[in-house]
Amino acid sequence: FSQHYEEKIRPCIDTIDNLRSLRVEKDLALPAIAVIGDQSSGKSSVLEALSGVALPRGSGIVTRCPLEECLECVGISNELISLQIISANVPDLTLIDLPGIARVAVKGQPENIGDQIKRLIRQFVTKQETINLVVVPCNVDIATTEALQMAQEEDPEGERTLGILTKPDLVDKGTEETVVDIVHNEIIHLTKGYMIVRCRGQKEILDQVTLNEATVTEKAFFQDHPHFSKLYEEGFATIPKLAEKLTIELVHHIQRSLPRLEEQIETKLAETQKELEKYGNGPPSDPAERLSFFIDKVTAFTQDMFNLTTGEEVKCAS
Ligand code: GDP
Ligand code: MG
Ligand code: NA
Repeated sequence: FSQHYEEKIRPCIDTIDNLRSLRVEKDLALPAIAVIGDQSSGKSSVLEALSGVALPRGSGIVTRCPLEECLECVGISNELISLQIISANVPDLTLIDLPGIARVAVKGQPENIGDQIKRLIRQFVTKQETINLVVVPCNVDIATTEALQMAQEEDPEGERTLGILTKPDLVDKGTEETVVDIVHNEIIHLTKGYMIVRCRGQKEILDQVTLNEATVTEKAFFQDHPHFSKLYEEGFATIPKLAEKLTIELVHHIQRSLPRLEEQIETKLAETQKELEKYGNGPPSDPAERLSFFIDKVTAFTQDMFNLTTGEEVKCAS
C-alpha cells in the first residue's frame, strides 16, 4: 500500500491540494468528502478517528489536511469554517463535517432549523464532486435514516455514497445479523457499499482514551465479536480500513473528476481572458504616452456612449 500510495495516490491528491491552495474552490467544485448523518450518529467521532490514523508516507513529509466544519448549532449558515490541520500523519482527505439533521428545534434555534440544515446538506450531496459518507449508528433502523434517504435521492445508484455503520458495541441484542447483512450490502444497496467502525464512546473520551488506544480496542472488538469478526476478516471493519478505502475512493473520484475540472477551468480562463481584453493594456509609465493613452480612452468612451444613444459610429476628427 505504501508504494502505491506514494506513486499513484500522492500526486493525485497533491493536484487537488494545489488547486485548493489557489482558491479555485470559489469558482469550481473540487472533489471532497462530505460526512452526513443524524445528530449524534458519530460523524465527528469518525472524522476524528480518521485524522488520527497513520497512513504510510515518506519520512519527514508533512501534509495538509484541510478540514471544513460547519457550525453545529444556531443560525446554520452556508459559510463554512475552514480549519487547516497540519500534521505528519493524517490522511490527505478533505472532509466536510456537516451538521446533524435536527428534527426538533432546540430553544434558541430558528424554528425551521431542520429545513435549513437539510438545504445545506443537499448543497453538498448534489455536487458530482462530492463523495457522501452516510453515518448510521448500528442501534437504529437503517431504512428510516433520513441521511441515507437524502443521499439516495441525490445519488440514486449510490455511486458516490459510502455507508458507515457506527456504534457496533451498542447494537441491540438479536439484530446483529441484520447489521452484517447491511454491511454485506444486501439490505439497502450502495455501489460503494458499507464499512463498520467502532469509535470512542462518551466514557472513553472522559477517561481520556487516546486515538491510538482506541484503534487497538477497535481491532480487538471486531476480532473477538461473535457476529462481526467475519466483517473484520472480510476487510469491512475498522477505522484504518476505512481510511484506506476512502483514500482509494477519493483518488478514483479525483481521476474521474479531473477532465470535467479541466474543462471548467478552461471555460473560466477563456471568459476571464475575454473580460481582460475588454480593458486593453494598462496606462504606460512614460508621461507623454500617458496623455495619448488617456485621450484614446476618452475617445473610446465617447464613441461607446454615442453608439449607445444613436447606434452609429462617431467619426473622430482629432
Ligand atoms: P455527531 O453528532 O454525529 O458528530 O456524533 P458524535 O461523533 O459527537 O458522537 C455522539 C456520541 O456517540 C459521542 O458521545 C461519542 O462518544 C459516541 N460514539 C461515537 N461512536 C461511537 C461508537 O462506535 N461506540 C460508542 N459506544 N459510542 C460512540
Ligand atoms: Mg459532530
Ligand atoms: Na494519517
